[in-house]
Amino acid sequence: MWMCDTESNQPGYALMPAILLAVTGLDPQPWEERLRALAPQRDVRLWPERLGDPADIAYACAWHAPRGLFARLPRLEAIFSLGAGVDHILADPQLPDVPVVRIVDPDLTMRMTEYVVLHVLMHHRRQRLYDAQQRERVWFEHEQAPASAVALGVMGLGVLGRAAAAALARLGFRVAGWSRTPKTLPDIETFDGDDGLDAFLRRTEILVCLLPATPATQGMLDLKLIRKLKRDGAAAGAYLINAARGALQVDADILAALEDGSLAGATLDVFAREPPPAASPLWRHPKVTITPHNAATSDPRALVANVLRQIERLEQGLPLEHVVDRACGY
Ligand code: NDP
Ligand code: OXD
Repeated sequence: MWMCDTESNQPGYALMPAILLAVTGLDPQPWEERLRALAPQRDVRLWPERLGDPADIAYACAWHAPRGLFARLPRLEAIFSLGAGVDHILADPQLPDVPVVRIVDPDLTMRMTEYVVLHVLMHHRRQRLYDAQQRERVWFEHEQAPASAVALGVMGLGVLGRAAAAALARLGFRVAGWSRTPKTLPDIETFDGDDGLDAFLRRTEILVCLLPATPATQGMLDLKLIRKLKRDGAAAGAYLINAARGALQVDADILAALEDGSLAGATLDVFAREPPPAASPLWRHPKVTITPHNAATSDPRALVANVLRQIERLEQGLPLEHVVDRACGY
């Protein structure tokens, strides 16, 4: 347990266990500012320049922190992902045996729901086609199926998948979901496990991926899987929306599927390498919509309070919430 120190660089406060912000690929400044604003009594450190004595650090808030860093923090008590995904933390081969906590927050969930609804509707309402028509000054209305005739499938029925599936069901789509373990959800047909995957895919026209990146899901969005999607339904083709992780998708297979008609369109928010190489044909493909991993951006204005709440729980001896199951990888 941490002892309070009477010496502090902030007069009037006892020194508290330090919080380390260890991030790459995002700007730490708004996170640090928010931490200082909401918890002025806390000792906040920033990797690498203001790490200080590694033995001061009790909590690490991480986004793609360098491998091996956590193992160098001898009094670390918990690692908090600054996002919902934890693949960037679990990939560290020297990860110490402390709880890894992920973000579950209404702000993040709502952002993902917005993104999924936006892109499902974009494909369903053929907005890319109308954009192309507008560029050519073409005034022509295509036949439009009702949502109730279109079969959507959400891979991953966790916090984000369930919220997106429920919103899509409210719009009237025929929604199904697939998860590792069985689920019963209102208005959503559910499938689970390897045995349930084929049946789920064969009834799905617009596939939304909200699975975590784990050894089991790596590369699963490949040509074989895509070819199982339903192409002769009301959506007039199959569509893929991947807002999960790039490690799940095989870019070359997505391109092949777009070329041979197995896919009529794709929305890709994530890539194995971000951004994808400038030479990737996906960038300019007329049937591909690319967004810069912003489906559900972690906003420090909402999420710092979430992390601080968890730290308070830990210090009050309450169990942490949303601790990752390392054996499952999510
Ligand atoms: P959860 O952990 O709440 O849910 C994960 C879901 O995936 C669960 O339903 C789980 O099944 C299912 N699942 C995991 N492994 C398998 C498997 N092998 N086969 C079938 N189903 C599986 O995660 P969230 O919903 O909070 O987030 C999902 C992912 O979204 C994150 O891991 C992250 O990578 C990504 N993400 C992307 C963002 C972006 O901006 N692009 C933003 C935020 C998150 P079960 O229910 O049975 O356990
Ligand atoms: C996340 C992400 O995992 O932003 O939250 O990708």
